[in-house]
Amino acid sequence: MSRLSPVEVTVYPYECDAYGHLNEAGFLQLFERARWEMLARGPGADLFSRNGIWPAVRRAVVDYHRPAFPADVLRVDLVVEKIGRTSLEIRQRAASKDGALVAELHVVFVMIDKSGKPAPMPDEVSSAFGGRVTVPTGEMVRYDVGDVTLAVESRGDGPALLLIHGFPVDRSMWGHQVATLARWRRIAPDLRGCGFSDAPEQGYSMAAYAGDLVRLLDRLRIERAVIAGLSMGGYVAFELLRRYRERVMGLILMDTRADADTPEGRKGRDALIEVARSQGAAAVGEHLLPRLLGRSTQRTQPQVVEQVREMARRTPVPGIVGALSAMRDRPDSTPHLGAIDVPTLVVVGEEDELTPPAVARAMTSAIPLAAMTTIPGAGHLAPLEAPTAVSRVIAEFLEAVPRP
Ligand code: MLT
Repeated sequence: MSRLSPVEVTVYPYECDAYGHLNEAGFLQLFERARWEMLARGPGADLFSRNGIWPAVRRAVVDYHRPAFPADVLRVDLVVEKIGRTSLEIRQRAASKDGALVAELHVVFVMIDKSGKPAPMPDEVSSAFGGRVTVPTGEMVRYDVGDVTLAVESRGDGPALLLIHGFPVDRSMWGHQVATLARWRRIAPDLRGCGFSDAPEQGYSMAAYAGDLVRLLDRLRIERAVIAGLSMGGYVAFELLRRYRERVMGLILMDTRADADTPEGRKGRDALIEVARSQGAAAVGEHLLPRLLGRSTQRTQPQVVEQVREMARRTPVPGIVGALSAMRDRPDSTPHLGAIDVPTLVVVGEEDELTPPAVARAMTSAIPLAAMTTIPGAGHLAPLEAPTAVSRVIAEFLEAVPRP
C-alpha cells in the first residue's frame, strides 16, 4: 500500500496538442507532476535527494482510456506494485471528476546513486511507499486491528506497559523506554495515521485511537496494561479510561492536559490543518518544533531537534489532518479526574511550554491517587529530551504498581 495520498491536477492548455487534448507525452508529464505533488505533501519533495539516491525510470507505459482537455481536473492516485532491493514498480491512475478512468501509467524505477549505479532503497524511501523498514531499536510487527494495521514495537516479558506517543511524532519517541524498562512487556504502537501505521483518509477521533489500541491489546492477549500517554497520547489514555476502565491497571500522564481545546485553540487546529494540506507534513513540523522541545534541548541537543523534525516529516498528511481534528474535537476530561482510581504518575518537563508544570500540578491535585514528577531541562517531549531521567521515574513508578 502506498503512503502517498491522491492529488488533483489541472490539465494546462500548453500541455495539449493541436487537436486540443492531452496526448501521451502530456500524460507522462501530468503523472510526473502528480508524483512530485504527492511527495511534497507527504514525505517531502527532497525524499530522494536527502537519502542520497535518485529514481531513474527504466520503463514507463501509458494506457489511454478517455480524452482530457484543458482545465480538466484529474484525480491521480498511486499504487505500489512491487518494492525490490533497488527497484520500485508503481501504477498511477488519473480519473475525471465523475470517477471515470482517463489514463493509467505503469512505471519501473531503479534507484541509482550519484555515480549512476543501482543503490539499495533506504528505509525512509521504502516506508514512504509502504514498504518494510529495518527498525533499529526492536522488532516492528504490523497488527490488523480492524480497518487499519498498526506498526507496533514490542519488547520484553512481564506485565504490559502500553506507550502512546504524541503529535506529530511516532512510537520511536519511546526508544529509550522500550529499550530499558526491563521486567515489563513494553508495547509502543504507531497510532493510526502516524509513523508506519496505515493512514486512512478519514476515521480519526480519540475514540478511534482508543478502539485501535484495545483491539491491539486483544490481539496480543493482554487483559490489562499500565497506560503511558504523552500529550495527545494522554488524551487517548483518558479515552481508554472512560471506555475501557477494566483494561487499565495504572496510568502515566506525561506532558499532557485534561481540558479540551479553547475556542482559540480550535481555530489554531483548523489553521494548521490548512498548512498540512497546502504545504505538507514538514511545514507542520517546522511550525510546532519551537514549542515541542525545551529551550535547553534546542540549544544543546541538535540531534533531538533533527529526530523530531524527521518524525514530523514522515507523518502522512491524512494522519496529521486526522490527529489535529481529533484533538480539536476531543472531550474535556477534567470532570473525570476525580474518578480515576488507578495508581497515577504525572510527569512534566520543567521547560514544557505547551502543557507547563502548572497544568500538570492542577491535574495531579484533581486525581486521588496521583503523584507528580518534574523532569529538569526537558520540554514537551521529555522522553526524548531526557530519556534516562524519564525511564528512571517510570521504572520507580512501575515498581509500586500492584502486579496482576
Ligand atoms: C502533542 O504533543 O501531542 C501535542 O502537542 C498535543 C496538542 O497539540 O494538544
